[in-house]
Amino acid sequence: MPGQRHLFIPGPTNVPQAVRQAMDIAMEDHRSPEFPGFVLPLLQDLKRVFKTAQGTTFVFPGTGTLGWEAAIANTLSPGDVVLAARFGQFSHLWIELCRRHGLEVEVIDAAWGEGIPVERYAEALAADRAHRIKAVLACHNETATGVTSDIAAVRKALDAAGHPALLLVDGVSSIASIDFRMDEWGVDVAITGSQKGLMLPAGLAVVAVSPKALARREQAKLTRSYYDFAEMQRANKDGFFPYTPATTLLRGLRASLDLLFAEGLDNVFARHHRLAEGVRRAVAAWGLTLCAKAPKWHSDTVSAIVVPEGIDAAEVVKRAYARYGLSLGVGLSKVAGKVFRIAHLGDLNELMLVSALAGAEMTLRDLGAPVEAGSGVAVAEEYWRKTARPVELGKRQVA
Ligand SMILES: Cc1ncc(COP(=O)(O)O)c(C=O)c1O
Repeated sequence: MPGQRHLFIPGPTNVPQAVRQAMDIAMEDHRSPEFPGFVLPLLQDLKRVFKTAQGTTFVFPGTGTLGWEAAIANTLSPGDVVLAARFGQFSHLWIELCRRHGLEVEVIDAAWGEGIPVERYAEALAADRAHRIKAVLACHNETATGVTSDIAAVRKALDAAGHPALLLVDGVSSIASIDFRMDEWGVDVAITGSQKGLMLPAGLAVVAVSPKALARREQAKLTRSYYDFAEMQRANKDGFFPYTPATTLLRGLRASLDLLFAEGLDNVFARHHRLAEGVRRAVAAWGLTLCAKAPKWHSDTVSAIVVPEGIDAAEVVKRAYARYGLSLGVGLSKVAGKVFRIAHLGDLNELMLVSALAGAEMTLRDLGAPVEAGSGVAVAEEYWRKTARPVELGKRQVA
């Protein structure tokens, strides 16, 4: 197909030109005396993305899944009880991973499309007077359903119960795109991957760990080697790694952090919100609904859109790709065939998203959905036009 393809899956996201160029380098010596001068500020600057001053940041060659595994293996022992809510494919997969490690997971099921049921967490924590629960898992942004949960409220529930459990948070599809406040929310381990808000290829698991969680390592008996925080910390202290780091991706990470800081994290979050809001308005104009059941759960990084009766969402995704070169996210597991997803995170602007909306609209019409041509695009355009910030063109400010 001539022309460019359009990538709107929730990771990998588009990699900015500056990041691609930063990775187009000759291989370097990761044990050279110059390497720490690059690594130490990188690990330090990563803390700004997590909004942590107290935490320690780690970068492992791996993906978000490795981050899940590192979080539990460094802090828990076989048989420990973990409290977790399941309301989408990713919250489900983390629970399954915990079980494979021999943890006892107390699962609170919620409808797919809802967020973490904080009141039920509060009840479970208050009832656990013996403090059997050693960790609380929280998926900040459930990518399968486009649902963002309130992590500050989970912290409040822990504090209200006077409960000492660790708070382990999956921020794979939120961190660097949606506001995340590790210290303020008392998060003990926060996890992300390189291929989403950090705008890199897949290949890095980025984890931030509180002093409390680091101290738990002493008692934690789960087996770990590759992703042992202590091994990593020992080498990182001097700006090195215990094994061969993914140097090219680290160079890309440096460029990506520079872009995020140049834009300003708060501006990055505001941009994501504004882009997401345009998509939500388009969905409403199509006469469709989101999988997310209430505005408080609307995700600013991904919208899962429920297809009309009689339309197979998998066909939408297949046709959008084959006919228009547009990659949309498929519905996973319980919502397979029922939703398709438009991801709106990373290196993105209004006109890029117009292509996704136009492609989704054309595909829906191709498949016989009663969607009016241009209806979603029109409302998104108007919303983005009216909410645009003035831009500098030479010396002139253009509203
Ligand atoms: C919320 C969430 N958690 C965890 C993962 C797993 O991450 P990875 O695919 O990088 O292993 C994903 C992947 O999409 C995700 O969206």
